[in-house]
Amino acid sequence: MDTKFYKKNLEWTNNFVQRNIDAIERNYKKFPSKNRWNCNCHVVHDNDLDAEPIDYEFLRSEYEKIAIDFCESRGLKFNGLGPIWYNYYKSGQYQEPHDHDGGYTFIHYMIFDKNIHSSTKFTDKDIESPEIDQGDILIFDGKIQHYVPANDSTSPRLTTAFTFDTETVTPDKQINLDFLFPTPMWWTDLHLDTNAIANECYQLRDSQPDSRGRSTINGWQSDDLKFDVSQRSLLKLIDEVTMVSNNIFRSQYLEDGDRRTLTILNYWVCINPSGGYNARHIHPGSFMSGVYYVKCIEDGDQGSIQFHRPDLEDFIIRQHDLKHNDTSYPPVQGRLLLFPSQLAHSVDSNEMDSDRIAVSFNIGIND
Ligand SMILES: [Fe+2]
Ligand SMILES: [Fe+2]
Repeated sequence: MDTKFYKKNLEWTNNFVQRNIDAIERNYKKFPSKNRWNCNCHVVHDNDLDAEPIDYEFLRSEYEKIAIDFCESRGLKFNGLGPIWYNYYKSGQYQEPHDHDGGYTFIHYMIFDKNIHSSTKFTDKDIESPEIDQGDILIFDGKIQHYVPANDSTSPRLTTAFTFDTETVTPDKQINLDFLFPTPMWWTDLHLDTNAIANECYQLRDSQPDSRGRSTINGWQSDDLKFDVSQRSLLKLIDEVTMVSNNIFRSQYLEDGDRRTLTILNYWVCINPSGGYNARHIHPGSFMSGVYYVKCIEDGDQGSIQFHRPDLEDFIIRQHDLKHNDTSYPPVQGRLLLFPSQLAHSVDSNEMDSDRIAVSFNIGIND
């Protein structure tokens, strides 16, 4: 066990106490001996939702810097702070002997008069308590058992504390990360005559001016299209999409000898003028879906497609560091996106004065 102490004085201590003592007093009035242990002391953790919070955000950022310095000075890898708590001892209040089960213990003496208050004591008689001044922090091995004798003065004593982990101390506690079931998103740029496809899309709209409902709002969506040989450019697109999707299917899904193929089940055109957008939806009944951008302005704000997290994690935590709840792709003329049909998506509003044309399709498996 490492019995060396790390000590440092924090000059902002008094200032912090002044800003937070009223909240601490109000909490004390509510529950003067609240704690999670077996002592007589007022202890509030930063995750105690029934107590008024003190400025834990400030403490966390300051303490983290110190813990990182400490780790660097000892060649350790910093593994993160645990919850922060404060201990407020009025007359007669104390903490029984305990340890913090590994890692390091960090104590900050916030209100402390060395002439009347006892510093932290250690049950091992060979460990001498370091001399403490108001504002000091003390870091020591989390396995060292310690206690605080009863406050025999009328003046309160206040400390904050937390524990932190380092990698070499507890290598068995290393946290590993695997990603289960990642969501694929395939995209590629096709070299097709987008003007010719756009002309065919406008001809279709002229022949069937009423928009199909579905997800398109303030825009025009065709019915499912027939594989009509007079729409040569659209059929060429469909051939390309069939090739690309089968390429993915063969290389990423099929085992050797599996002869199944993918086929376009249905496809349709969507023309979104200024203000047109598509509400959130999925494409039921197919394996893979896609969109191809026939006409859009380069770098124009013509409505990105937004893909929404499938796992509802946004109900639990609002922001996710790995990927946010929505991931968007701006439209790029000539670009094809393919994605699993169950992946919910929507399209932002077209903010430009010019049409945005896309062809969408559903792709199924031929058994
Ligand atoms: Fe402790
Ligand atoms: Fe869609």
